[in-house]
This record gives sequence, C-alpha cells and structure tokens, in this order.
Amino acid sequence: MSISMNSERTPVSTDVYRYPFTPYPTGWYLLTESASLAPGDVMPLRYFGRDFVLFRTAGGKPVLLDAHCPHIGAHLGYGGTVEGEGIRCPFHSWRFDSSGRVDDIPYKTTPGLPDAGMACWPVEEVSGLVLVHFSEVGTAPSWHVPERSEWGAPGWVGYETRSWNVRVHVQDLTENIPDTTHFVSVHGLRAIPEAKVTIDDHVYRQVMGDDTYALRHNVYGLGLAWLDVDAPLKYRFLVASTPIDEQYVDMRLLFLIHEGDGATELSAKGRSIIELISKNTSLDVVIWGHKVYRDRPPLVAGDGPIGVMRKWARQFYETASAPS
Ligand code: FES
Ligand SMILES: [Fe+2]
Repeated sequence: MSISMNSERTPVSTDVYRYPFTPYPTGWYLLTESASLAPGDVMPLRYFGRDFVLFRTAGGKPVLLDAHCPHIGAHLGYGGTVEGEGIRCPFHSWRFDSSGRVDDIPYKTTPGLPDAGMACWPVEEVSGLVLVHFSEVGTAPSWHVPERSEWGAPGWVGYETRSWNVRVHVQDLTENIPDTTHFVSVHGLRAIPEAKVTIDDHVYRQVMGDDTYALRHNVYGLGLAWLDVDAPLKYRFLVASTPIDEQYVDMRLLFLIHEGDGATELSAKGRSIIELISKNTSLDVVIWGHKVYRDRPPLVAGDGPIGVMRKWARQFYETASAPS
C-alpha cells in the first residue's frame, strides 16, 4: 500500500490528547437542571478536569465551589451539609459562606478565623438550567446566556433529557452544525441544506431551510447550542456540552416540545421526534469518538461554513494555544 506524500498522517496513539489547543475553552456550560437541585441539595461534580461541589442554599442560590476543604482536604460533595446560605464540611465541621470563605469553626478556642476558603465559580440560572462560566485564567463573564421563553410556557413540555459521554472536544461537537454535508451522509437528509450564517459577537447563528421548514441554530460559545424547529410540530433542543476532562465531554440534549394547549405530557409524536434525534446523535457519537482534529482540512466547494465557525470560535481561547 502506498501513501501519497501530501496526505496528512494520522496520529498513531489514540490515548493521548488529540487537539492542538486547550480542552477547556472559555464560556458558559451546563452543570445541571434547576429541578435537580433543591434548596439544601449538595452535589459532587467533576468537570474541566477538576472536582467541584455544587449546592443550593436555603435561600435558593446555586453555589459552585472547588470541592476540597482548605483544612485537611475533605471533598464537600460527599457528606457536606447546607446550613443557611453556606455549607458545612463533613470532616471537622468548618462552615463556608456562599463565596467559599470559612465563617465558622465550632471548636476553635481563640477568636478570629484563618484566611481560608475554596474558589467560588460564577454561576447563573437561566430557564431551568444551572450554568457555570468557566475560564482557565479566571476571566469574569463578558456575556450572558438569554432566557428561553418556551421553557415553562403553556403548551410546552420539557425538559426531556438524553445524555452521552463522548470522547471528543467541544469544538468538534459544535462543528457538527456548520458541517452541512454530513446531514446527508450521516443523517439521511435528502439534499445538502444551504446554511446562512450570522456572527453576533459570541453568538453563531445559522439558518438552514426556508419559511416552511427551517432549522435555526443559536450557538452561545462552545458549550450551549440551541436548535429551533418550526415544523408541523414545533420543538427546540439545547445541545449542552460540558468538558469532563481532556478526553470526554458530558453531552446532553434537552428538549422542549410544543404539545399545545393544556398539555403537560409528551405525545407519541413528541416522543418519536426525541427518539429520532437521539438515534441520529448516536451516529455522530461513534464518529466523534474516533476522529482526529484536522488543523487545515482540505475543504472543497460544497462543504459547509466550517471555516467561518472556526474563526468565530477563536474568541473562546484565552491561552496561547488557540486554533489557527
Ligand atoms: S477537612 Fe474540612 S473541616 Fe477539616
Ligand atoms: Fe450530526
């Protein structure tokens, strides 16, 4: 077998990190649904190669802290308890406020408290979603994720959620949207849809189709991509992609289905849309799990606006190693 000298060689090992840039671009990512986090709930989480504790205070505020206690290192997600607006460590009962600072040590015999605490991450709650703003270098959020009017509105049912653990980078997941030709070859669409793209700072907007049947994408950074479909059955879904570590992404599809007046449950039709999209997503998951990243792909006329998306995506890389 001969290999043409100008073909790009595939990296040999698949166990090493496959991308020429950080696995953790800056932006908003889904932690959990609001409904899964009642006041007093404590949840251990592992994302961005780090350990966190997520809790909801008695007053209802979601708080995300680095997981490990500054005292002797217990993980507050395993046995920590919410007390008012703070959380108490399961090991020696130090209490931390909602900014992660220690504010009570019950057995301390002298006055005053040490200057100790856990890092506190920016969290916002938007339309039933608990989101974190992640920046490796600690940059404060410069933009926010808008509410979805459909969530909780009469006639809309959801979220109905499906999830996958995908061995991929969030940028490759997002590239699924401008990669219009794969909609035919992987997902069985009859014709390659034309994609009209508008870049709006941190939002990538893409419309495929026409007034009778259109797929409208609104992509907020590399973690949150909404798709709106107004077919005979109206539905929306969010593709929420949160990096777990250098290899894996927690990818969730959260569906909102318009079932009409008074509906509180999914119809058979609504259910079948969700199952169809989930089946199609599973086809992508196999490809993503084994692909490599091509820094300079030989795109041809007919390929979708992948280059446009890559250029837009550069803004989410704050460290030296950004995609070219
Ligand atoms: S390890 Fe948390 S209070 Fe000691
Ligand atoms: Fe796809």
